[in-house]
Amino acid sequence: MQTHFRVLCYQQPALNAMRRVSTSSLILTAVYLVQSLHVLAGQSFWPAAVPLAVRSPYFNCWLPTGQGTNPTARWPQFWNFPSGSNGVDNLGWEGLARVDGTTYQWLGDWSSESNHGFNPAQLTNIQITPTRTIFQVEAGPMSLNITYLTPIEPSDWVRQCIPFSYVALEAASTDGKPHDFQVYADISAEWLSGDRTSDAAWNTTMTGNVIYHEISLNHPTPFKEISGQANDGIMFHAMTNAMTNGASSTYHTNSDATCRGQFLNYGALTNGLNTVFGSILSSATPVFALAVDLGPISSTFSPIPNGEAQLRSPYFITEFATPTDVISEFLSDYDTANQRAQALDQKILRDASNISTEYADLVSLAARQAFGGIDITISNGTDGHWNTSDIMIFMKDIGNTRRVNPVEVLYQAFPTFLYLNASFGKPLLAPLFEYQDSPQFTLQYAAADLGNSYPIASGDNASHSQGIEQTGNMLIMTLAHARISGDGSLISQHYGLLKSWANYLINNILFPTSAQQSADLENIVNSTNLSVKGIIGIRAMAEMSEAFGQAGDATFYGSQAMALITEWESLALDSDRQHLLLDYADDTSWGLMYNLYADRLLGFNLVNSSIYAAQTTFYEALPVSRFGLEINSARTSSGESAWLLFTAATASVSNWTKSMISMAWSRASFNQTPEVWSTDYDIFEGTITGGSASPGQGAMFAPLVLSIPNTTILFPVLTGPNAPTHKSTNTAAIVGGTVGGICVVGLVIFAAVLARQRSHIPLRRGLLGRTKDLTRKVDPFPLNVNPTESVFTSVSGEIGRKPPSQPHRPRTVVTASTVPEVPSPQDVPGGDPEQSGLSSSRSAMEELRNEMTILRRVLLSVRTDITAPPPVYEG
Ligand SMILES: *[C@@H]1O[C@H](CO)[C@@H](O)[C@H](O)[C@H]1NC(C)=O
Ligand SMILES: *[C@@H]1O[C@H](CO)[C@@H](O)[C@H](O)[C@H]1NC(C)=O
Ligand SMILES: *[C@@H]1O[C@H](CO)[C@@H](O)[C@H](O)[C@H]1NC(C)=O
Ligand SMILES: *[C@@H]1O[C@H](CO)[C@@H](O)[C@H](O)[C@H]1NC(C)=O
Ligand SMILES: *[C@@H]1O[C@H](CO)[C@@H](O)[C@H](O)[C@H]1NC(C)=O
Repeated sequence: MQTHFRVLCYQQPALNAMRRVSTSSLILTAVYLVQSLHVLAGQSFWPAAVPLAVRSPYFNCWLPTGQGTNPTARWPQFWNFPSGSNGVDNLGWEGLARVDGTTYQWLGDWSSESNHGFNPAQLTNIQITPTRTIFQVEAGPMSLNITYLTPIEPSDWVRQCIPFSYVALEAASTDGKPHDFQVYADISAEWLSGDRTSDAAWNTTMTGNVIYHEISLNHPTPFKEISGQANDGIMFHAMTNAMTNGASSTYHTNSDATCRGQFLNYGALTNGLNTVFGSILSSATPVFALAVDLGPISSTFSPIPNGEAQLRSPYFITEFATPTDVISEFLSDYDTANQRAQALDQKILRDASNISTEYADLVSLAARQAFGGIDITISNGTDGHWNTSDIMIFMKDIGNTRRVNPVEVLYQAFPTFLYLNASFGKPLLAPLFEYQDSPQFTLQYAAADLGNSYPIASGDNASHSQGIEQTGNMLIMTLAHARISGDGSLISQHYGLLKSWANYLINNILFPTSAQQSADLENIVNSTNLSVKGIIGIRAMAEMSEAFGQAGDATFYGSQAMALITEWESLALDSDRQHLLLDYADDTSWGLMYNLYADRLLGFNLVNSSIYAAQTTFYEALPVSRFGLEINSARTSSGESAWLLFTAATASVSNWTKSMISMAWSRASFNQTPEVWSTDYDIFEGTITGGSASPGQGAMFAPLVLSIPNTTILFPVLTGPNAPTHKSTNTAAIVGGTVGGICVVGLVIFAAVLARQRSHIPLRRGLLGRTKDLTRKVDPFPLNVNPTESVFTSVSGEIGRKPPSQPHRPRTVVTASTVPEVPSPQDVPGGDPEQSGLSSSRSAMEELRNEMTILRRVLLSVRTDITAPPPVYEG
């Protein structure tokens, strides 16, 4: 029997009709007039690449920032750069800004490919938070703050699965004078296929709310990857239509030279549409351009959000009558999406900063990378409706292979999901369980994955040599998910399967043979580390039995685990009992005992605390190379960031946890090799040996998860302890099924200009006269607050929207090391007259108040224009 895994949010009945759509949007906003640019010299965390739009395995765009290159003169790249040849990894995405007729580039590399006499803007800072990458650049007398926001929505999975990513651009005059300001962005069709000779077609839609380009392949091929990219996507480049708000939005589809040249010369596009379709790259490469003319800028604008969203096919097309509805919804949601993102960033960074500043950097770089490895899917029920009780998440083995739900990588990434919302654990594990609880699966031990051809989840019944490794991983993850989420449904549904795995371990773990391989692809006879993972797995089974009311099983597995751990301790230590060995009786061997992390995570204390202490002392005495420690004594020069963090979390001394975090940080911030942050690297040279862009970096959250409390495990009412489960009723086996993957990379750019600039020039001049005093203490880029909110709340409660709940964040909490001060309301123009030098400017206050009132009206009208309902599952 063949059944299909359906993709996510939307799926069409026919597989070949499934497609994924991504959209991203660009929102521009000019913020404050600021007097001086805060040049940040102390940039310390500087990875080789930073995430721009990292949402799923096929919507995974990074910007190289290493090797001394200027990030404002580099093409964005698909995650697997620089593996391709001749720039096949480039994702065409050009951003320009024109200030008083002079053009600056804030994204892309058109400046070096042409001789048009414009320059990259000068980069002054890059800041990374879990959901955002923020660039500060200087463009002549303006400073720009460009925020790439890829939301993480732990509690709203519908939004999480929509491939939407924003770019928000804020501009501020640095000399106190108004400047004519226009912004431009285009994308090419390179996002659509790794075969750049493919033919693409496109069209453009403009409504009162939005303008968007839609681009697709003439001959899409579902389930096929070319150079890692999907081949059946649809991409949107959208922005809000600012015409109604006073600024003017224009668009253009034509060759790169034509569109960019038009903007360069005129600061506006022609609204021309070239409908002579051609290949993705050619002598006249087509680009899909959007521009906004903001006029002279001198006052507060609302931010122009730039986001990207992926719409998985039929779902949005059925939920929303047209793509316009979805795009409108997401563009209008920028403010709240941004607030949610800031709140999430704040929580994560507050927790992480309790450990160290470097640790905050690591989780900031890891969060989107972990989520960028997954697709959230839902099936079509037998009743024809989307089946919201059948959500499955698929992970791709990015950076290594096309394996689907690679169990050891899932295990590495699991802490991120446990930390953000442990409920993610169920849909991540569910496809593995369903397949393995079906008659199609015949192995005694757990599968290593669901197949080798993401996004096709064909199932994988081939025998493999990671029996202990993967079986241990499954048992540990299953209990961890249940403990933290309280959801026992996987245990009750697959109790028999779990028991069979525990039984396999009992018979195989104490003396691992040469046929047993670790996650590091090592076949070590009598492996200490592998053995203890198996024992912890058995102990986890005892805990699951106990929770499920199976007292006899609980006693049995519990006593087995105790007996085994006693024997293990007698074998695993060196003759002086000072450290754990890599393999029994090999007295000079050692290893990072990352598998002990599960003992900590699950609170078993199975391994004696004296061993943790001894092991920590031993690690401290090891010679540390530039990028940290080797995985073990048999692997000269091989480092692994995920295992390093798991090991760090087991240290008995918090200082040593920090030391290990510093080692991982030194590699994460190393930018002399060009790849996206990799899990596997040479500890002397820093060179990558595997796992570029791997979701396994989700392991960075390992230390944080240890402080998340347990909750009582609850079981579904209809399944009792006696309900048969193993290989029984679930014929929905997933063998041969297709994940339905399919991705379309969609990019929507939309610009929302909420203030009518030209009509307020006199007012702005008035404001400008006070600019110096007003802004003396104001950071040009209040990165941690929504500028719109700051203005409104500072001017007057009556016109302000509800202020964000926590508008002021200590800099140390918000970012790694280079976050500018956040202005308090008193620092904002109009906030505190005494402090800002505005004491005699009552009338100016009135003017500002008036302007804010206008802004607010515009905002409200924009909001009410958008009537499409938010995306919801249809049950
Ligand atoms: C986790 O996700 C589920 C499903 O979307 C949601 O109901 C729940 O509220 C989320 N929990 C948290 C803590 O976000
Ligand atoms: C153009 O727009 C129509 C909707 O009006 C859509 O069905 C079609 O697929 C689009 N074509 C391309 C090439 O994007
Ligand atoms: C929805 O999914 C659940 C879980 O796979 C399944 O038991 C149920 O029968 C499905 N419902 C429909 C209407 O298909
Ligand atoms: C594994 O370790 C045990 C106990 O030290 C030993 O007796 C056995 O020979 C070892 N196995 C192999 C294959 O070396
Ligand atoms: C979780 O629960 C288990 C058993 O109920 C207990 O041993 C463990 O210490 C708890 N861990 C935490 C972090 O609460």
